[in-house]
Amino acid sequence: MKKSRRDGSFAVFPGSFDPITNGHLDVVDRALRVFDRVRMAILVNPEKQPLFTVDERVEIIREAYRRNRRVEVDTFSGLLVDYAQRVGASVIIRGIRAISDFEYEFQMALMNRRLNPQIETVFMMPAESYSYVSSRLVKEVFQLGGRVTDVVPPVVERRLAEKYGTPAGQARLAGAGRRPGSSRRA
Ligand code: PNS
Repeated sequence: MKKSRRDGSFAVFPGSFDPITNGHLDVVDRALRVFDRVRMAILVNPEKQPLFTVDERVEIIREAYRRNRRVEVDTFSGLLVDYAQRVGASVIIRGIRAISDFEYEFQMALMNRRLNPQIETVFMMPAESYSYVSSRLVKEVFQLGGRVTDVVPPVVERRLAEKYGTPAGQARLAGAGRRPGSSRRA
């Protein structure tokens, strides 16, 4: 797809985002320093059993970025490079937290380049403070009554509490003085 000058630079940030963490948001912040618009693209994968449905993940991301029109959210299925080409993005953003992420990301980037050499993968490193944060760990910790306040945005903590309905989760949210719509850094 042709990109007009008015469109500005545009990158796709794909992932499962089940759910988004502050590590993902940190990568988006960094990407926005380089690109005019970033589109978070959620993979629709019928083989995975996510905690949050695709629609819920879209809602969560929309809420997290409701004040930032430079961040968009979408879903896709099939090959990522085909999606990127279809929406006119020539860059795929991926976050690398640690060396352990690198091998898988490197393989994907090279395979994607082979599939479509016009699309470049750009790796971004989230802040070190998020280097251990993953969606999987967030779900596990929350489910077992642990605190996830500083590693996910408020909307995710609230949705986790609604989903699991754990007394521990509800009590923690009340105690944290959650303010709906407050910034994720709050
Ligand atoms: O957050 P995740 O689960 O690590 O994201 C992985 C994702 C969605 C980026 C990757 O699985 C993907 O791109 N899937 C789409 C199918 C595809 O293009 N596969 C070939 C990759 S080389």
